[in-house]
Amino acid sequence: MLLAIPQVLSRAEAASFRQALEAAEWADGRGTAGYLSRQVKDNAQLREDHPLARQLGGKILDALDRNETFISAALPLKVVPPLFNRYAGEQSYGRHVDGGIRPVAGTPHRVRTDLSATLFLSPPDSYDGGELIVEDVAGAQSFKLEAGDMLLYPANRVHRVAPVTRGTRLASFFWVQSMVRSLEQRTILFQLDNALRVLGRDVPDHRSLVEMMGVYHNLLRQWSDT
Ligand code: NI
Repeated sequence: MLLAIPQVLSRAEAASFRQALEAAEWADGRGTAGYLSRQVKDNAQLREDHPLARQLGGKILDALDRNETFISAALPLKVVPPLFNRYAGEQSYGRHVDGGIRPVAGTPHRVRTDLSATLFLSPPDSYDGGELIVEDVAGAQSFKLEAGDMLLYPANRVHRVAPVTRGTRLASFFWVQSMVRSLEQRTILFQLDNALRVLGRDVPDHRSLVEMMGVYHNLLRQWSDT
């Protein structure tokens, strides 16, 4: 399931993020890449322990806590503190896979990367290229979302970022360990939750609604680790 979640941050919040990030000190993105990814990765990143990364990352985590679509789709158990990257002047990130386990810098914690997230921070008309391209057995899908919108996708997909040929592309990226490890099960729960929300709105007094809600929660109990 590839899911574009609109307005995780408002346009105004994304603009204030950009203003802060444009003034920050950036490091070479190869610093956090594995030995294979290093050969195809060409971007800049904020250091994981950069105070601005902590501060803006905290705001993103707060926004995710309030976002019902994210909670329903990801069923998050742990979220890696968000990181930030910048592409400009033909920079790109070639085909690669993300590591299956992500250590959390400065802590003994590790996160299994079930889901990858990219939160776009730059307006799409402010730069050329920079699409996030996610491969699938059926082909590749290309995403260039509005500032403040976020793409959530299974972390096991080969993906890449196309060269940025004009302007600057700022984004935040991070990984999620889900309470429900299986993509199929997570997708069923997301579909059921969406259907229940519509039924709850349209026929709130239906006598089977409570039992259907019970089925959702029983499946969640069956399938989740906490
Ligand atoms: Ni990646």
